[in-house]
Amino acid sequence: MSTTTTTGFTEGVRTATWIAPINIAVIKYWGKRDEALMLPANGSLSVTIDMSKMRAKTTALTSPSITTDRLWLNGKEVCAGDPGWARFQRCVDHLRHRAGQHNAHVHVCSENSFPTGAGVASSAAGYACLAMAVSDVIGLDCARENVSAAARLGSGSACRSVFGGFVLWERGEDGGTGGSESSIARQLFAEKHWPELRMVFLFVDERKKKVGSTDGMRRSMETSALMKARLESIPEKLVRMEDAIGRKDFAEFAEIAMRDSDQMHAVCLDTYPPIVYLRDTSHAVMALVTALNGACGRTVAGYTFDAGPNSVLFALDEDLPLLLAALKRFFPMPAEAEREVFERVGVDGVMSGEVERKVREGLDFDVWCGPSFSRVLLAEPGSGPQKLKDEDNCEGLLDVKTGLPKAK
Ligand code: DP6
Repeated sequence: MSTTTTTGFTEGVRTATWIAPINIAVIKYWGKRDEALMLPANGSLSVTIDMSKMRAKTTALTSPSITTDRLWLNGKEVCAGDPGWARFQRCVDHLRHRAGQHNAHVHVCSENSFPTGAGVASSAAGYACLAMAVSDVIGLDCARENVSAAARLGSGSACRSVFGGFVLWERGEDGGTGGSESSIARQLFAEKHWPELRMVFLFVDERKKKVGSTDGMRRSMETSALMKARLESIPEKLVRMEDAIGRKDFAEFAEIAMRDSDQMHAVCLDTYPPIVYLRDTSHAVMALVTALNGACGRTVAGYTFDAGPNSVLFALDEDLPLLLAALKRFFPMPAEAEREVFERVGVDGVMSGEVERKVREGLDFDVWCGPSFSRVLLAEPGSGPQKLKDEDNCEGLLDVKTGLPKAK
């Protein structure tokens, strides 16, 4: 932690800056059994995404002269009563209590390098980062399990972003405070375990979704009859998924992930009033993956969708050119969306005429004419949150002399 003594703003300013990753669930968390404690209705399993393109960055700062908590998110101050404030307070209160620092207050400034609320787990990276940075400045040991429990109070899926690689968030036991203590995330396999695994993010809409995850889950828990069947099916799926990842069995991994995503969205549709996160383009992407796997006679790719229309596709490195060639052939996209990934991977001539013909037979469109992707990003399994070193403090988001966001 950097400790700076100044005569300007105050003496004894402590500040720390962290970056944290998003994660993509392959067995989704959908539903809470206790909203106040943020206890999930089911266990979930995710892949942490490398931070090269998508990450949150947070600076936390404390000093004896700071007497109230303040939060700035993506350039705007979030005040008491604003959406997000109560979760921020819950998370910070938990850490203060743990540290026995009841009078410590913090200034927190956080930025995401990707859209907030568009269904790509921005809150997961944000709260994981916040919990790491605040733990650090108030003198906690930053033990990942403890930070994970605090992150969960901000946003459920955030507890998984505190770890790298492949992460399980246990449902935990019912009853007393036991549930809270036992519903924790832990790493199953490190990021290097399966270095051939790739994720392709297809953004079709980067606007904030209409029904947020919290409200959507609540509504599903209250009204969906399918939810019961889903919850019963999860424990076995978690075991199978952990086993598939352990054995690096891509076909099994992709099938379980696709079926779990389909089931979560079926529950959303079974919710009353129904929740529809997927769009025509999302369904067209699902159809392409199905047709490509059928045309090749093996599992080349898998898909998953969070609470939004954007797809995350899975493939092994060796099949990436084929998957991208198929995407390029059937989904015309703006040059800006393509440049980053397609030029790097080199897809020309990779799909044989035979495969192309078979894929076309499996689709009810020749070229997708609906809305296409605004952005395509390529990612790999990545590490958990990292602290930016003291000498990097010039990268911090708060000015140590004033405690306020640095002028841009
Ligand atoms: C569909 O963690 O955003 O992405 O706990 O209410 O903040 P809250 O919800 P959030 O839900 C994420 C749901 C999901 C599936 C998942 O990431 O497991």
